Amino acid sequence: MKILLLGSGGREHTFAWKISQSPHCGQLYIAPGNAGTAAVGVNVDMQPNDFEAVGKFVIGQAIDMVVVGPEEPLVRGIYDYLKAQPGLEKLRVIGPSQTGAQLEGSKAFAKRFMMERDIPTAAYAEFTADQLEDGLAYIDQQPPPIVLKADGLAAGKGVLICSSAEEAKAEFRAMLSGKFGQASSRVVVEEFLDGIEFSVFVITDGKKYKLFPIAKDYKRIGEGDTGLNTGGMGAVSPVTFVDSQLMAKVENWIISPTITGLQELNAPYVGFIFFGLIRVGNTPYVIEYNCRMGDPETEAVLPRLENDLVELMMALDDGNLSEIEIKIGQEAAATVILVSGGYPGDYEKGKTITGIDEVEGSIVFHAGTRQEGDKIVTNGGRVLALTSYGADFHEALARSMSNAEKIRYEGKYYRRDIGFDL
Ligand code: AMP
Ligand code: GLY
Repeated sequence: MKILLLGSGGREHTFAWKISQSPHCGQLYIAPGNAGTAAVGVNVDMQPNDFEAVGKFVIGQAIDMVVVGPEEPLVRGIYDYLKAQPGLEKLRVIGPSQTGAQLEGSKAFAKRFMMERDIPTAAYAEFTADQLEDGLAYIDQQPPPIVLKADGLAAGKGVLICSSAEEAKAEFRAMLSGKFGQASSRVVVEEFLDGIEFSVFVITDGKKYKLFPIAKDYKRIGEGDTGLNTGGMGAVSPVTFVDSQLMAKVENWIISPTITGLQELNAPYVGFIFFGLIRVGNTPYVIEYNCRMGDPETEAVLPRLENDLVELMMALDDGNLSEIEIKIGQEAAATVILVSGGYPGDYEKGKTITGIDEVEGSIVFHAGTRQEGDKIVTNGGRVLALTSYGADFHEALARSMSNAEKIRYEGKYYRRDIGFDL
């Protein structure tokens, strides 16, 4: 089978690594990929949001399956675009339709979806610019902290947690005046939930689903979860506090009604759902849905999955997902992300990376890297992901840490405390 994977981060290198292990994979293309994906497939100079180019490539190369890594092409409707091309009706597209992707593409849509189905989530209200006064009055009635969310995709920056009503009202005005462009033309005002977060992933054909390993990511730049939010500084899997009782609630109260709800939308959903959850007391609540796998969670989750991932993805179209048993390795996995100095603020690219060949006992997944002649250079904020196995996450983390020291490039930074709160 010929497979095209869209994306260029650590998540995509992990997908490429896993897909290339499958006997079903004859040829793997990654667009645009990075220096790591080039080692397990063929990089194609093409942007995932350039639907026309992707469609031409799929037809020209007789691709059988397209796997969509990031959310943006999904929210923009790449599933529907590809399926509508003459001759591509049977193409396997792994990722939801545009309507299904609204779970991530519109926070207001996701909140309404959950409220209508009694899926546990924070209380909220939504406002547009012509409801400014109503919104300000609503904020005044809420106890701080107050959570504001841009409705649309805002590159991970659209959530603000405000410590007072004054701050929230100022930010609310700014958002409705275009702080995040069109994405904040509608704002969700939400109750703050105090608890501990974790990430649950399913692969689904829109009717049946299978659970992937549970993970937890660490989003803040600083140790002890301090400082600015990033794309993610590390992840562990499994998550020690997530026991079978909590998971039973997650499945019964959250996952099942979500899958049923998707069927009511009458929109194809063939791919992954990422449930961003928070445990408050003993109750799981949904913080957010994502219509794709998480990054860096994928780097800790897929290495624990013993199944053939291509076979699982084929099952989505073939209708035999329920016949496949998910096999998860006993060992824990821990991922540490090495980033560029200055990230998530301004940082420089093009720094030569050395020491990758000295790594022992960890898998190196590339994120922001680029091949330049015979050198590998930095090409993004998140540069490399080091994933290790261990009897528990402490052991796995120790391996990633010792290998993180061996990698060298100017400005290298990583958190040494992944899993500190477990
Ligand atoms: P998101 O962009 O939706 O992933 O939100 C970013 C982060 O904001 C989440 O990972 C949470 O840490 C935090 N957050 C979002 N909504 C809430 C909420 N209602 N209560 C507490 N924290 C929240
Ligand atoms: N790890 C969070 C995300 O992928 O959005």
